[in-house]
Amino acid sequence: MNIYKNKHFSVKRGDCLEIIKEVKDNSIDLILTDPPYNIGKYSTGNISFDWRSDINNDIAEWDWQEFEPSAIANQLVRILKPRGNLFIFCSYNLMGKWHEALDPLFDTFQFMVWHKTNPTPKFYKNGFLNSCEMIICCWNKGHQWNFSNQRDMHNFFESPICMGKERLKDPKHPTQKPIRLLEHIVKIASTIEDFQELKLMRYFLMPLLID
Ligand SMILES: C[S@@+](CC[C@H](N)C(=O)[O-])C[C@H]1O[C@@H](n2cnc3c(N)ncnc32)[C@H](O)[C@@H]1O
Repeated sequence: MNIYKNKHFSVKRGDCLEIIKEVKDNSIDLILTDPPYNIGKYSTGNISFDWRSDINNDIAEWDWQEFEPSAIANQLVRILKPRGNLFIFCSYNLMGKWHEALDPLFDTFQFMVWHKTNPTPKFYKNGFLNSCEMIICCWNKGHQWNFSNQRDMHNFFESPICMGKERLKDPKHPTQKPIRLLEHIVKIASTIEDFQELKLMRYFLMPLLID
């Protein structure tokens, strides 16, 4: 369902596995997506306290549903332009499945890391902080890249998690991605220049993703 359209972008709401079938072949410059992580089964749940609010373990409702990368891989390739780029936020447990599904379909299967400079503290100090997220990156030879300095091309990006005005509070969203990071990916992997539009679109999209 088309729920918003202006001269720069349109927003559709619905099941992406269905809506993607309506997208034309070879029509997309950059796919930047954050599908479910299938991590519900690994969760030990939020940590509760009498004296403070729960510590969030980043598990959301959609992390309990089984999301199968191979169910969407061919569609992603079909809609991407030959010079396009594909970026997918991904958790450790799905890396292998995404690799299995996408590596045979692209010349390059790579990843970048988002390092969160302010991760949730580890209360019991018994392991790593959850301070990194992986982002799978795929492309074919001759793909469109848009950078002027090698500094922009480390497959590592540091930024805090969303805070302050950017952070949604009602409803809360455990895996909200910061605009700085999205902007960086859009800059290096597409030719979009109007980031004001991107920010607008972001605020428009957020409440829909939570539904
Ligand atoms: C990891 S979250 C994305 C978080 C978002 N990128 C952000 O920064 O806040 C996964 C999202 O995919 C949505 N989702 C899960 N299955 C979907 C489907 N079949 N079609 C459309 N959205 C879906 C969930 O509701 C959830 O909002």
